[in-house]
This record gives sequence, structure tokens and C-alpha cells, in this order.
Amino acid sequence: MKAAVLHEVGGVPRFEDFPDPVPGPDEVLIDVKAVAVENVDKLIAAGTHYASKKYLAQLPAIPAFDGIGTLPDGTVVGFGNPRPPYGALAEKTVVAKGAYAPIADGIDPAVATVLGTAITGMSLTTAAGFVPGETVLIQGATGVAGRLAVKVARLLGAGRIVATGRDEGQLREVQALGADTVITTAVPDAELAQAFTDAKGDGYDVVLDYLWGRPTEILLRSLVPESFAFPKPTRLIQVGESAGGTLTVAAESLRTSGVEIYGAAKGLGPDTMGQVYGQVVTWAQSGELTFDVTRVPLSDIETAWQRTDLRGTRLVVVL
Ligand SMILES: NC(=O)c1ccc[n+]([C@@H]2O[C@H](COP(=O)([O-])OP(=O)(O)OC[C@H]3O[C@@H](n4cnc5c(N)ncnc54)[C@H](OP(=O)(O)O)[C@@H]3O)[C@@H](O)[C@H]2O)c1
Repeated sequence: MKAAVLHEVGGVPRFEDFPDPVPGPDEVLIDVKAVAVENVDKLIAAGTHYASKKYLAQLPAIPAFDGIGTLPDGTVVGFGNPRPPYGALAEKTVVAKGAYAPIADGIDPAVATVLGTAITGMSLTTAAGFVPGETVLIQGATGVAGRLAVKVARLLGAGRIVATGRDEGQLREVQALGADTVITTAVPDAELAQAFTDAKGDGYDVVLDYLWGRPTEILLRSLVPESFAFPKPTRLIQVGESAGGTLTVAAESLRTSGVEIYGAAKGLGPDTMGQVYGQVVTWAQSGELTFDVTRVPLSDIETAWQRTDLRGTRLVVVL
């Protein structure tokens, strides 16, 4: 079969022949249809992600750990966790029986690869217990996940949406998607802290954080009140780390600001996952939620893997 083949940790996958996977008794062969290439796939291939050890235990290997494909009976499914060295970026892959779920009728496989990213926006409800009318701050709103989160927050009935990014032009696009106020993080620390304070109104109820690192460190600092006061709770949901994997939290930020920090996995279980997935699919089918994807063939993987021009749109390899 043809596959994207990674020969070394930190290398770039190449379009090559690779032996077909042979499923064991508890496995099933997947005929791959579409695979999103995300930051996490690049981190794993670079050897800098906690899952790198598992997926790169044997080289050469095929990157990407999930995608959309068909089972031998033709059912279209979203699958995950291929058996290394097989990955999703190939004509065929192999997963454990049950490591897949059917994709709803009428959803294009390329769009289906982005449903999981939209579901991070649904952590507004699953992790933060969002109620309509609340003020939401989305950190990293110019990215694929952030833009979807702005749309999801609007669909869920956010009272006010504040969105951050580094680029004025892209922030205008985010405003067109539904953000009420935008903040650029590409300014000195004191200016950014002031912008967070100016935009918060009577307080951020929920923060969806795709950045972490410097912008979130400054945000947390900006939430410290200037006098003794009863704090208004701010539920900060940690979803991504585009701006850094660590930050320093001043003791007074936690002590005084009312901030509560949760991971996006909070509240997720088989039932809630089914509910939020169903909601995202309903919006996708009705056209209320749209997904921006850039399609490339598998044969272009070497060039596509290295693209840096794609902002706010998901690179999807279609087979
Ligand atoms: N937990 C999950 O299930 C899940 C799912 C999807 C994504 N994520 C995570 O969420 C994050 C965003 O994913 P994505 O797919 O939206 O990525 P993306 O499309 O590449 O967007 C990245 C965002 O981060 C901003 N950014 C990048 N580096 C930055 C820096 N040094 N300082 C400030 N802003 C910076 C980008 O701004 P520009 O537009 O200016 O470049 C953009 O807004 C990633 O960490 C990803 O792993 C998590």
C-alpha cells in the first residue's frame, strides 16, 4: 500500500510503499478515507509528545493516530489508536476491534476529521457548566480550534465573547465569526494585562484556553483584584498549549481572583461524549456549524507536512 512513512524521529514523512497491515484476531482492517494533520501529530513525530514513545517505538512508522475510514463491511467510522508502526496516514491501517465509532450520515469524511476539534469547544458545557448569557474568553481564537470554539460559544448562547490572537487581520475574521471583542496578545505584558482588564466587563465567566504559556500567565495576573473584594468565579478550561507548556501562577492569583482551573477532559464520559458529539453533528448537518478544511492527496504529504501558511483551516489528507 501507499503510506506517509517516517524514517527518523523529527523527520518529515515521505510518500512511499509500506507493507499492508495484517489484522490479528482482535483487530480490524480500516480502509482510510481522510486524516487531519494536527499539531499533536507533528509533536509526536518530533519525539516531543508524551505519546511519542508509543508511536515511534519502531521505525519506520506511519504518523497520525486517528482518522475516518471504512470497516470491511463498508461502514464509515472514525477510528483511533492504530497499532504501531501503522498510523492513520496510509491507504490502510489496523486498529483494535471497537476502537471506532460510526460517522453520522451526510457528514463528509474530511469534515468528520474536524468534529473532535469542535468538541473541544463543547468543553464549555461539559467541563465549565456554561449557561447561556455568560461571558466567554477564548484564548487562541485565530486557530482552527479557537475559531470553532467562537462559533460553538455563539451557538450555545454566550452573552459576550472575547477572543485573543496575535494577528490583527485574523482577529477581524474571528470578529466576523461572532466574537464581540478581540484582543491582540502581540503587545508588551502590561498592555496585554490592561486589555484583559478593559474587556472583562463584570468578569469572565468561562475561559477556553488553547494557549497556556505567556498569554494565560498574564491573564491570571490581570484577574487579581485591586482591593479586597468578593471574587466572581472564573472557570478556566485548559484545552491547548500553543503558546507554551508551562506557566507560573502567582499565589495571589489563585487566592484572590476566584479562578478555578480545570482540564478539558473534566466531565467527559461515554454519555456526555455521545451528547456533545450528537450536538456537533446536528449543527454540522444543518449547516449552522461550518468547518474550514484544506484538502490534499496523500501523495503530497511531504510538502503538506511542512506547510506553515495554513491559518485557521485544518489540513486534511484525503484518500
Ligand atoms: N484537547 C484537545 O482535544 C485538542 C483538540 C484540538 C486542539 N487542541 C490543542 O489546542 C491548541 C490549538 O490547536 P489548533 O488546532 O487550533 O492549532 P492552530 O490552528 O495551529 O492554532 C494555534 C493558535 O495558537 C496561536 N499561537 C500559536 N503560537 C502562539 C504563541 N507562541 N503565542 C500566542 N499564540 C500562539 C495561533 O495564533 P496565530 O493564528 O497568530 O498563529 C492560533 O491562534 C493546540 O495546543 C492543540 O494541541 C487540543
